[in-house]
Amino acid sequence: MTTLGLIGSGNIGGTLARLAVAAGIDVVLSNSRGPETLADLVAELGERARAATPAEAAAAGDIVVVTVPLKAYRQVPVEPLVGKVVIDTNNYYPGRDGEIGELEAGGVTSSELLQRHLPRSRVVKAFNNIFFKHLATLARPAGAADRTALPIAGDDTEAKKAAAELINALGYDTVDIGALADSWRTQPDTPVYGTPYGAAEPFFEHEGAPVDAATIRKLVDSAER
Ligand SMILES: NC(=O)c1ccc[n+]([C@@H]2O[C@H](COP(=O)([O-])OP(=O)(O)OC[C@H]3O[C@@H](n4cnc5c(N)ncnc54)[C@H](OP(=O)(O)O)[C@@H]3O)[C@@H](O)[C@H]2O)c1
Repeated sequence: MTTLGLIGSGNIGGTLARLAVAAGIDVVLSNSRGPETLADLVAELGERARAATPAEAAAAGDIVVVTVPLKAYRQVPVEPLVGKVVIDTNNYYPGRDGEIGELEAGGVTSSELLQRHLPRSRVVKAFNNIFFKHLATLARPAGAADRTALPIAGDDTEAKKAAAELINALGYDTVDIGALADSWRTQPDTPVYGTPYGAAEPFFEHEGAPVDAATIRKLVDSAER
């Protein structure tokens, strides 16, 4: 993979961009306010980074990450993502996103909503269960004894393989937890959400607890509806 597209360049998008550039991957960043508002981040990231509109970032990415407040998911451009692997980091917080009836009813996951919005893309859920600061501090090279694992979910096996390769390059092992319908197991308030990697507050630099794949599997399996 040569280029990662980012729709959303905030806490998670910015962190993923830094990890990608460190791994030698080009990034195209985007947000809601326009490329010029990303000038500082682009300058920090250097020549592997540029900013664009969401549609341009979607078109440029070999893999594209959607990392926006969930309430904005219907604004994600559809056509430029056709046929692509789309990584979904999003979580549903009704206080921020407003109540979404289908999610309140519990019969569907937020990633399935994104997949419905992008019917010809291949959505993979990842990065949603780790605090962005831990995402930065826990990345390790492949084979490191203290490498951390992240759960992934998706309906397309090849897409999950491609996402896992990217995540490996960014510094993490992966645990395949099944289909998008299974991704409720990593949503907010489940055992694998956030806390296994450390407390969000207070946060100390370089903090974070490595969590191996077997532990992630156990935590995911212990989730209850
Ligand atoms: N923060 C975490 O530690 C964490 C961890 C795991 C998962 N998540 C989830 O990941 C998602 C992103 O979280 P975050 O903390 O990175 O959020 P954030 O810091 O608020 O950043 C959100 C980004 O999305 C952009 N955006 C908003 N609406 C958009 C639109 N219609 N089109 C394109 N870009 C748009 C924002 O751009 P503007 O600033 O220009 O509006 C901003 O760059 C959320 O669903 C969150 O629940 C967060």
